[in-house]
Amino acid sequence: MKNASILIVDDDRTSVKTLRHHLGRLFSVVVATNGEQALLLAQGSSTPDLILLDVLMPGIDGFEVCVQLKANPRTAAIPIIFITGLSDSASEQKGLELGAVDFISKPCSGPRLRARVRNHLELKRHRDNLESLVHERTAELLLKQQQLTELNERLNRQHIELENHRDNLELLVDERTAELMIKQRQLSEMNEKLEEMVAVEVNKNREKDMLMVHQQKLASIGQLAAGVAHEINNPMSFIMSNLNSLSKYSAKQLQYNAAIEEALGDCPAEIRSRLADLHHSLDLHFIAEDIFALISESLEGAERIRKIVHDLKDFAGIDEDTMIETDLNHCVQSAISIARGKINAVADLELSLADIPPVLCNPQLINQVISNLLENAVHAITGRGKITVCTEYRQTWGMVTVTDTGRGIPSEIIGRIFDPFYTTKEVGKGTGLGLSVSYDIVKKHGGEITVTSEVGVGTRFIVKLPVSS
Ligand SMILES: Nc1ncnc2c1ncn2[C@@H]1O[C@H](COP(=O)(O)OP(=O)(O)OP(=O)(O)O)[C@@H](O)[C@H]1O
Ligand SMILES: [Mg+2]
Repeated sequence: MKNASILIVDDDRTSVKTLRHHLGRLFSVVVATNGEQALLLAQGSSTPDLILLDVLMPGIDGFEVCVQLKANPRTAAIPIIFITGLSDSASEQKGLELGAVDFISKPCSGPRLRARVRNHLELKRHRDNLESLVHERTAELLLKQQQLTELNERLNRQHIELENHRDNLELLVDERTAELMIKQRQLSEMNEKLEEMVAVEVNKNREKDMLMVHQQKLASIGQLAAGVAHEINNPMSFIMSNLNSLSKYSAKQLQYNAAIEEALGDCPAEIRSRLADLHHSLDLHFIAEDIFALISESLEGAERIRKIVHDLKDFAGIDEDTMIETDLNHCVQSAISIARGKINAVADLELSLADIPPVLCNPQLINQVISNLLENAVHAITGRGKITVCTEYRQTWGMVTVTDTGRGIPSEIIGRIFDPFYTTKEVGKGTGLGLSVSYDIVKKHGGEITVTSEVGVGTRFIVKLPVSS
């Protein structure tokens, strides 16, 4: 408390002396004798801890000094005690309203003055402590608030980073999902293509298998035909030789019979009559006339069988890979012989053969082509029709034309008739391989096969094969 400084403001020397006497030993005392001096001291470098302020002074009075000190932030907190000769309650009220902490009327006893000064200094000390405490707490709070703000900002930044991260992740997930979907689509497209390719391959293989079966069937039919032809050939030879012998024997027999008849002229009439009856009843006259006709018809039949056998051998007896100089007319005749029965059943055949130089080919296969065309022509005819087969020699080509007066081929299917398995026949009636196989055979021989057709009028197939140079 000794260190507390008190500014005494009073123009009256006696009052100053009394106050210094009461307080001088306990506090450090500074004196101002007017208002202006008091303001200068109070607002100087070291502000007093308490001011004892007189009211009535020359110049600025105590109330005005109080007003100015309270208006200045540096001095506003200094406790001011008015100590004055005024004792009216209006002055006291005014002084307290202006911000003074106490109002003491003179004269005042030393102990009372010291007690009131101490109390106010104590109050100020507490208030100062409280204020510094408040400052400290406020500073701490500010620090905490700042730390909180920083923490908040950091959290915000982390939150934003997290959000960015999440957005990036979502973007990445979206991108990957899109990529995956594209990959998946590409995979399923590839899968579909593969399935299509597999289906195409399976179909091709099936077609190849059926083609092979068809060709094997044809080959085995050919072998069978060759075998049958061979078997028939021998008996046919001795049948024909026997028939020739029979013819000669019959001639001799008839010659002998004539001689007997002549010799009978010398026999008795009864014997001649009996023999004439027997001759008549056995119809020997007719037999003698008919026997040569029978033998010649049989020979003719046997000759036809021999020709068929020969054609069959021609048709089927040659190895598939054999390419030989061949007369196309020969192939045509051979194929017609085989199909003759079927042709005769539905059509009249017109055949016109020209001279053609030999063609290098596999005759068995060319026979097969012409047979297929003839068979198709037969199948195309309803009722009775006509089939014309011509051969021609034009430039370097040997040509075979098969024309029928059948139902014709509609333009919308004509482009498909050479496709394997294309058929308009009922299920089980045709394989649809006839033209496809024929096409392949002709192509293999360096030739061409073409078709023209008119519905209701007929169809013409032309096979062109290069003649040997
Ligand atoms: N001369 C023709 N007149 C009318 N249509 C024909 C004639 N030739 C072929 N076609 C048509 O072409 C199709 C295919 O002929 P292709 O010879 O290949 O097979 P297919 O005769 O049906 O059967 P397959 O020959 O196995 O018995 C026939 O089904 C028929 O519709
Ligand atoms: Mg056919």
